[in-house]
Amino acid sequence: MSTVAVLQGGRSLERQVSLKSGARVEDALQRLGHTAVAIDVGADLVARLTDVAPDAVFVALHGRDGEDGTIQELLEVLGLRYTGSGVAACIRSWDKVLTKHLLREHGIPTPDFHAFSETAFRELGAAQALPAIERQLSFPLVVKPAAQGSALGIKFARAAADVPAAIVSAFSYDRKVLLERYVPGRDLAVSVVEREDGEPVALPVVEAVAEGRDFYDFEARYEIGRTRFVCPAELPEGVAERTQELAVQVYRALGCAGFARVDLMLREDGELFVLEANSVPGLTETSLLPQAADAAGISFDALVERILAIALERAAA
Ligand SMILES: Nc1ncnc2c1ncn2[C@@H]1O[C@H](COP(=O)(O)OP(=O)(O)O)[C@@H](O)[C@H]1O
Ligand SMILES: [Mg+2]
Repeated sequence: MSTVAVLQGGRSLERQVSLKSGARVEDALQRLGHTAVAIDVGADLVARLTDVAPDAVFVALHGRDGEDGTIQELLEVLGLRYTGSGVAACIRSWDKVLTKHLLREHGIPTPDFHAFSETAFRELGAAQALPAIERQLSFPLVVKPAAQGSALGIKFARAAADVPAAIVSAFSYDRKVLLERYVPGRDLAVSVVEREDGEPVALPVVEAVAEGRDFYDFEARYEIGRTRFVCPAELPEGVAERTQELAVQVYRALGCAGFARVDLMLREDGELFVLEANSVPGLTETSLLPQAADAAGISFDALVERILAIALERAAA
């Protein structure tokens, strides 16, 4: 049995969700007979880790630090084994712009886009290129910060007049923004978990269904209770398999390890488009990965045990 430090909380906007994920992971580890030590990530992180000297670290930290490779870099330096993706894969999946370029290079469909830094607007007059971008992407278009999670900072622009405010809003989350073609259709997510032999396997597809809202009413859509999750998603023949294959391709293209979640859109005509990948997806009662695992007959405890075993094996290899 192992001593496992469970990293959670931290300073990100997803702190509360992470605390829930962490608490649930701790409970599971204890039921499995391990010793779980909770660490709320802050300035004393390195001291705490040195003190606890865990056999492995379970990264249940969402958003900044936990998903952008920062924590992973520290854990590498400290020579500690940890769950999930390594530094490079975290960097690649945290930055949606980088992700989308990599997807394109691998021939994986992702909505058309253009991305700019704040300095391009401030010092290079990028705003003057907006009409050309709007012509290419057409309306409605989606404006989002390059890095962030949980739909924070994402706006739909219905017309040119909506774009500047949407960009300003996205810049409050990141120094780079992404303008993306809107994909009308269904919101799907596929979690990928490695088998004990290291082979990534896609779990059943989850669909997020907005309840009685028009698709522009984005904020309402992500309020608790306004979105219903269906797992396995009810999809036309062959679509689930295609979605799962695509998710595994994304997982490999980004070099993920252990587990990850891939978000996609199924366009009305049946075409699939990958939006992004999450290197530390939510692990709460209502999160998509545990729901999908459950639908595949994998209990939460079994999921945690597997994720931990992969981390321990990878280190041994
Ligand atoms: N190009 C797009 N077309 C249609 N809907 C989108 C598009 N981009 C994002 N969305 C909607 O916004 C949600 C969040 O977007 P996503 O890119 O997954 O960012 P994050 O989950 O990191 O906030 C998606 O699940 C989808 O509902
Ligand atoms: Mg998403």
